[in-house]
Amino acid sequence: WRPDDDDDHQRRGAAGPVKVRVPAKINLHLGVGPVRPDGYHELSTVYHAISIYDELTARRGDTLTLTMEGEGTGELALDESNLVIRAARALAAYARVPAHARLHLRKQIPLAGGLAGGSADAAATLVACDTLWGTELSRDELAGIAAGIGSDVPFLIYGGTALGTGRGEAVSPVLARPTSWYWVVAVADGGLSTPAVYRELDRLRADRAAPEPLGSPDSLLAALRQRDPGVLAKALGNDLQAASLSLRPALSATLAAGEAAGALAGIVSGSGPTCVFLAADGAHASRIAAELSASGVCRAAHTAYGPVAGARVV
Ligand code: C5P
Repeated sequence: WRPDDDDDHQRRGAAGPVKVRVPAKINLHLGVGPVRPDGYHELSTVYHAISIYDELTARRGDTLTLTMEGEGTGELALDESNLVIRAARALAAYARVPAHARLHLRKQIPLAGGLAGGSADAAATLVACDTLWGTELSRDELAGIAAGIGSDVPFLIYGGTALGTGRGEAVSPVLARPTSWYWVVAVADGGLSTPAVYRELDRLRADRAAPEPLGSPDSLLAALRQRDPGVLAKALGNDLQAASLSLRPALSATLAAGEAAGALAGIVSGSGPTCVFLAADGAHASRIAAELSASGVCRAAHTAYGPVAGARVV
């Protein structure tokens, strides 16, 4: 097999459409260190994949095209800056195959919400095109390509619960006995720019107006092993939360409403503005979500559980 032989790889790949499901992520612990010379912040984070999904379908085509439906897709550019297009091109260049596919994305993960929706779509594209083109890379190879697309993309190739270091791209699984955790995800109106939230944290820190950095995720990892939501609730933490609240003060009311509705804990997810709440079980999550939906402090409240698998062909 010669990797640059178009006919051969077309024979090798999938004939029919390839459908991939990819989850959203939250950060159970998001410790943000200093800015590095390359402009990224050194992170120690615990990623957790939850049951809110986007779906990407890849079909044979003569060029590379992308169409979309669902959550906020009118706001997304369908050009070369789109993370889906960048992911397809990166895999094609790595595997030395033509970047030919018709991609269709069904979005449920909100845009610019702190749930890594764009990164999830990039991860889904790598997995879908790998099958469509018959390039058959390992997950680790796909994660290597993913790291060049965005800091959260490698995690979404693996899913589960994992420790992220470096700028977030160095991922290692957290081994724990299987436990499901139940969440309520409160989606805000409008998004927040991730670079702007990091800049705001730098500003707060320079002004000594930020809380003490969280540091190591050891207590969060120990809490996960105890499998007790009451214990996990006390260990959740996010260094970006102060910065998201500073840019979007209304989120304080969302966090307060979730806790008033009985959530064990509430945090801003990633760079926000989505807030996530820990519940004791699925029924508890449903009650909190219903109360939050009625309260008017968020655009929508969904229940979810985690951990779930990363980007997978379905
Ligand atoms: O890696 P990604 O492109 O998803 O990151 C988006 C932006 O978030 C970066 O351009 C940077 O401003 C910020 N960021 C950061 N430190 C990280 C990850 C992201 O400052 N570890």
